[in-house]
Amino acid sequence: MQIQQNISLKPYNTFGIDATAKYFARFTSVDEIEQLFDSPFLKENEHPFIIGGGSNILLTLDYSGLVAKNEMHGIEVIKHDEKYVYVRVAAGENWHQFVLYCIDNNFAGVENLSLIPGSVGASPMQNIGAYGVEIKDVFYELEAFDINERQVSTFTVQECEFGYRESIFKRKYKGRHIITSVTFRLNKQPAFNISYGAIQQELDKMHIEELSIAAISRAVINIRQSKLPDPKEIGNAGSFFKNPTIPQSQFVSLKKEFPAIVGHPANNGVKVAAGWLIEQCGWKGYRKGDAGCHAKQALVLVNYGDAKGSEILALSTEIMKSVELKFGIMLEREVNIL
Ligand code: EPU
Repeated sequence: MQIQQNISLKPYNTFGIDATAKYFARFTSVDEIEQLFDSPFLKENEHPFIIGGGSNILLTLDYSGLVAKNEMHGIEVIKHDEKYVYVRVAAGENWHQFVLYCIDNNFAGVENLSLIPGSVGASPMQNIGAYGVEIKDVFYELEAFDINERQVSTFTVQECEFGYRESIFKRKYKGRHIITSVTFRLNKQPAFNISYGAIQQELDKMHIEELSIAAISRAVINIRQSKLPDPKEIGNAGSFFKNPTIPQSQFVSLKKEFPAIVGHPANNGVKVAAGWLIEQCGWKGYRKGDAGCHAKQALVLVNYGDAKGSEILALSTEIMKSVELKFGIMLEREVNIL
């Protein structure tokens, strides 16, 4: 495995931040992961920083250690039963390519998650979700290289402790595992999920007469393309913040003051649309240098070209302060800051 030096990470993060890695490698197998840990380029007790699709990170500094890109590939049907097909996907596969593979093969369950940037290996980390579906709904198990034990272990859906944009890999086991493959349990008979947001409206616009997973995927792609910036054109990492959950009592009093506030019942309170809060604070379409808040979706921060990670981070802090001041709600960043 080749280790390169002083490599720009610009092509490897969807924010398009031009930070440098002192050392850079690509791995394609568990053997190569093991080799990484024996690398003379790692200082004692230092771990490589693993990058997948680079779609959920903000690089605020040059990285003085070893960055390793997951390039493990392969999609394989491992078993069937009456209702389901089980598909094991190597962590380095592109998420949307995997969704298209499912649609081509008529495997249902991930069509609402079309066009989410990033790799399959990153998808369980933050339990990716969109349009009423989360990865936990189709997740069967994953395999991950345990850095402490230097061996591959298997995690079931319960063991991943999935929550809203959360898993055990972002909390208790942060930095301890390298996900190597994810196995999905997909439906042979689709159970269409079109209740969320604008899907039905988009299907009507498309004049769909017979519902199919391909039609839902197309509708989701159209909706996403209409309001989310394409990272190939404008750097971004999707939603920069999570939608916060606040106590019901706080929501009731905010609703009196701000009748248009957008919120949905959640497990332990009300989940409020962070995009709405940010827009009300006047940030939508804001730009300072090359760092900005997207004009069509205020939850998405963007890099118009040469913004530094620290500038985007500073903008996010200003946004958080103003939302707290106006609404008394602390936003939480969804993107990992490095
Ligand atoms: N809204 C505004 N102004 C804005 C943006 C949104 O008022 O600038 C309001 C909308 O009017 C709507 C509500 O906020 O009533 C929700 O907006 P939207 O449907 O666009 O979804 P979101 O809550 O902003 C979440 C996910 C997205 C996912 C969409 C669709 C999070 C943090 N984000 O966004 O996921 O695509 O729902 O399911 O939960 C991502 O995680 O990177 C991501 C893009």
